[in-house]
This record gives sequence, structure tokens and C-alpha cells, in this order.
Amino acid sequence: MGKQLWGARFSKSLAKEANDFNSSLHFDSVMFEEDILGSIAHATMLGETNIISKEESQKISNGLKEILEDIKQGKLQFDYNLEDIHTQVEKWLIDKIGETGKKVHTGRSRNDQVALDLRMYLKKEVKNIKTLLLNVLKTLINLQKKHTKTYLSGYTHLQRAQVITFAHYLGAYVEMFKRDVERLENAFERIDTMPLGAGALACSTYNIDNKMTAQLLKFKHVMINSLDAVSDRDFVIEMGACLSIIMMHLSRFAEELVLYTTSEFKFVEFDDGFTTGSSLMPQKKNPDILELIRGKTGRVYGNLFSILTIMKSLPLAYNKDMQEDKEGIFDSIKTVKDCLAILPQVLTTMKINTDKMLLSVNEGFLNATEVADYLVKKGVPFRDAHGISGKLVVYCINNNKNLTTLTLNEYKKESSLFEEDIYQKITPEAQVNNKTIVGSPSENSVLEVIKINEKWLEKKEKNNND
Ligand code: ARG
Repeated sequence: MGKQLWGARFSKSLAKEANDFNSSLHFDSVMFEEDILGSIAHATMLGETNIISKEESQKISNGLKEILEDIKQGKLQFDYNLEDIHTQVEKWLIDKIGETGKKVHTGRSRNDQVALDLRMYLKKEVKNIKTLLLNVLKTLINLQKKHTKTYLSGYTHLQRAQVITFAHYLGAYVEMFKRDVERLENAFERIDTMPLGAGALACSTYNIDNKMTAQLLKFKHVMINSLDAVSDRDFVIEMGACLSIIMMHLSRFAEELVLYTTSEFKFVEFDDGFTTGSSLMPQKKNPDILELIRGKTGRVYGNLFSILTIMKSLPLAYNKDMQEDKEGIFDSIKTVKDCLAILPQVLTTMKINTDKMLLSVNEGFLNATEVADYLVKKGVPFRDAHGISGKLVVYCINNNKNLTTLTLNEYKKESSLFEEDIYQKITPEAQVNNKTIVGSPSENSVLEVIKINEKWLEKKEKNNND
């Protein structure tokens, strides 16, 4: 028998080039813990159901536990000539406990085993990513609390549009990252299906108790179609999609912060610890960290497209193409974790130029809508009110004025309905705080939403630690 698990059928061993090409150990070795814990649960079930003896089961479990400890303590080195992590762990087990080790694979195939390992690995990483996302959310909410009165322009088409507050602006990202958390939880629900028992594709004739294995491994669901259990990777795709959406949100936020740090805006300034210089231009202070977050979005999208493409025309059930499922998702997980870990540090050290933000609301006629609304409240149809306000804006542009420096007489030339109180209605504060519905930029509304979100956060933190 060759060194492959399946060597007996072959008259010679795999060519070195083919072996190197075929091996996945250099990337699937990160799943060693999942592979071992999965095997311990499987062996326990085999013992409980008398498929193997209780002693054998115990011996296997003990051997595997020791192997896990040895790996963690660096006492065992991976042999990268082996085919994959499953082969490696089984070899270690047989080396350690002898013949009994050969029974661990009873009623199991690497096809259901690899699906199990990957599901376990993704479940662990969903929790890790959620922890990081919740920390980003906490940072954003803390910043929001300080800036419910910090006025700045909101934009549409990147043109000054209406006044908002910095707290309200950050609140938009709070909602996006909240949905990202919920999307991960939703995907987790489907990752949480235990595939063992499926075997290679059609189960086995042993009286496998896969519900017991699922319970031991804390899986909520058990597979109910063996072909499906070993052949789909939609759970990897879903996770990749969740990660891509997180990156899309991070990238948008990063892009805006890069923009807001330019001399043209100067709304924010990054701490020296999170900016870099130029090798040529001495004055430069570059927002590389945010640019990298934006840039790394590309590889996460790429990984999603890779697995979507790999899966698109694979016949059922397992095909070796599916070994290509891992590197992409592992890379996406690492990338997202790196970005989520660094963002709070950039945010908490960043200087916020409230004076520059305020300047942005004074020019650009951000209060033109309020001027129209003023007339609407006096009975003028909105379309007419819009027209009057528009004419006043043109008048201001031609006479180098703005809507707060127009005299009442100038207002009255367009409509006699204007009175002295128009000036109170068009201050930045009035533009923001005269809006009352929850979801608006007004201080009361934002404070109310912050309260809702703090409760939400507390609940999620608790659940994620359970
Ligand atoms: N290394 C393989 C993978 O990642 C494990 C499953 C191998 N199964 C097989 N029948 N060759 O997909």
C-alpha cells in the first residue's frame, strides 16, 4: 500500500508532480482542530452505537486529543507530502495508537468529512467576524454620541444637498453594519448543518447516529440528503457574499473618509500613527490604511466570483474542483478581519474638524428646501413653492448673497407670505431639528436611535458570547 489512504488499488504511487498538485495540506491544515474534533465526535458515536467497541472509541478519542495538544504545542510537524488534513490526522492517529486508528474512518468519507470541517471552521469565523463588527459598531455609536450637534452638509451626486449632523452620517454606517451582522447570523443558520453520515455520496450500511454526532458538535441541523450534503458549497458562497457586502460597506466608508481628509474638505484628519508619508514629497500625509481597506474589497469580491464559477457546472456529487473552495474563503475571512480590526483604531484617533464641517453648510443654499417648505406650510402648493425658492437662489447668486442675508423685502418680492420668522426656519439647527420622525437627522431622533442601537448591541454581544 502506498502512502495514500487509497493506495491499495494502484500499482505505483502518484507521480511527485501530481502529488504536489493534488495536495491541499498547505492550506487546509488550518482546519486541524475542526478535523480532530469532528473525528472525536464521529468516533464517540461509533462507540455509542456499537459500530466499534467502546474501548476502541475511547482509544481513538484519547489519541486524537493528544494529537490536538501536540499540534498546539508545536510537537507535531505537518508532512506536506500528504494529501490533505484528513490524511495527515489519520496518519498521526495510526502512528500513535496503531491498528485501532484505522477504524476512525468507519462509515465516513473525506467527502462528508471535508464538508464538516469547513462548516465548523466557518461557524467559528462567523462568530469572530461578528465580534469585530460589533466592536466597529460600538466605536461608531460612541462617536455618534459626541456629534449630535455637529452640522455638516449631506450630499447627493456629491453636491451639497441638505444639512445633517456627523452623528446622523455615522448612523447610516451603523445601520449597514447592523445588517451585516444579521446577514452573517442568517448565513450561520444554514452553515449549521451537520453533513456526516452522507459518506462519499450515498451513506453507509452501518447504523450511524448522525443526530448524536450533530449534538456532540453543537450543530443545529442534520443533512437530509446525502448527495446534497457532500456536493454543495452554497454555504461558502453565502459567507463569501456576506463578506463581500461587509467590504462594500467598509470601502464606501473608507472612500468618504479619504475624500473628507483632502484639503478640499478637511472634515477629518487622520492620526500620524495611521497615515503614511511620501518618499518624494515631504509635505504629504496619505490615508493608506483607508485606501487599503477600499482596495482589499477587490480580492474579497474576486474570491466570491471564484467559488461561484467553480460551482456553476459541477455534476453531483463531490468533484475535486471543490478543493478550490477553501483558499478563497480563508483569504476573504482574513481580509475582512484585518479591515474590521484596524478601522476602530483609525476612527478613535481621527481628528474631527467641526468648524470645517459647519462651513460646508453655510454655502451652497442647503436651506433652499426649508424656504420652499415654509411656503408650503402657508398653503402654497409644493411645486410653486419650489419655483419661488429656486428664483430666490438665482437672485442670491446674481447678487452675491445667500438665503440668510436676503432682506425681508427681497423675500417679499417673490412672495408676500414671507415674514420675519423665515430666518429662524433656515438656520442649520432648525434645518436639522425641525425634523421629527425617527430616522431623521434631528438630535432627538438620533439620540432615540442610539438608545435602540445600544440595546441591540448589548443583546448581540451577549448572544455571540453564549
Ligand atoms: N482535500 C479534499 C478537499 O478539500 C478533501 C476531500 C477529498 N475527497 C476525495 N474524494 N478526494 O476537497
